[in-house]
Amino acid sequence: MRKKVVIANWKMNYDFYETTSFIRNFLKFIFEKKINHNKEIIIAPSFPFLHISNQISQGTNLNIAAQNIHQKEKGSYTGEISASMLKSIGIQKVILGHSERREFFFEKNNILLEKIKIALKYGLNIIFCIGESSFERSNDQQFEIVKDQLRKTVFCCTPDEIKYFYIAYEPIWAIGTGKTATFEQAQTMHEFIRSLFLERYGKNISNEISILYGGSINDFNAKDLFYQKDIDGGLVGHSSMELKKFLRIVQS
Ligand code: G3H
Repeated sequence: MRKKVVIANWKMNYDFYETTSFIRNFLKFIFEKKINHNKEIIIAPSFPFLHISNQISQGTNLNIAAQNIHQKEKGSYTGEISASMLKSIGIQKVILGHSERREFFFEKNNILLEKIKIALKYGLNIIFCIGESSFERSNDQQFEIVKDQLRKTVFCCTPDEIKYFYIAYEPIWAIGTGKTATFEQAQTMHEFIRSLFLERYGKNISNEISILYGGSINDFNAKDLFYQKDIDGGLVGHSSMELKKFLRIVQS
């Protein structure tokens, strides 16, 4: 049975107080009040708050993820954070390939492959994002784009390495726009992505890999999206920043 997963990506939002109080309140709701859900829950706060977030969630089922790493192991890269630094504070997961990193920080597939390799070297789980722009979709290139993104990155990994991945399909036109993909559009793409894993790695891996949807998920549309047979949960931005909304999404 593959894992159902909900991930909160807080991007460059929330200071120390907002981060820690959200996580404390969230844990109170989820674990003390025993709200029913069947999902792995991951929160990705900003770098300065990873350590404290991880400490607060010790001994619970909440996992903390970083939003990025540098592709090199160490060295003169002022301002950057390495995979080994994350490991040294107990962080086990990292988001890579987010379209905001691709667009604003010029992270191309070759850089992302280096990041994947260094993350794997340190045993980090990778939430790897793929997805097409609105221009690409309007030209019906979405399948080609997603296939190419996977071929140049994730598909360079061995079957054993694939066990460290979650895939997040995030159509760029749906991110932060309020314009969610319809559940049919999302399911069609997820089915396609799973078929690519089948072709490259065989039945077991393609059945087991969790493929999440991201892009304007909210507490109203989450249920329909998560109900689709190839959608195993979501990577949530805006709606993960309101406690009650996020709790409703987790329970969807
Ligand atoms: O990482 C999260 C995604 O970029 C989705 O963001 O839910 O604000 O559209 P959003």
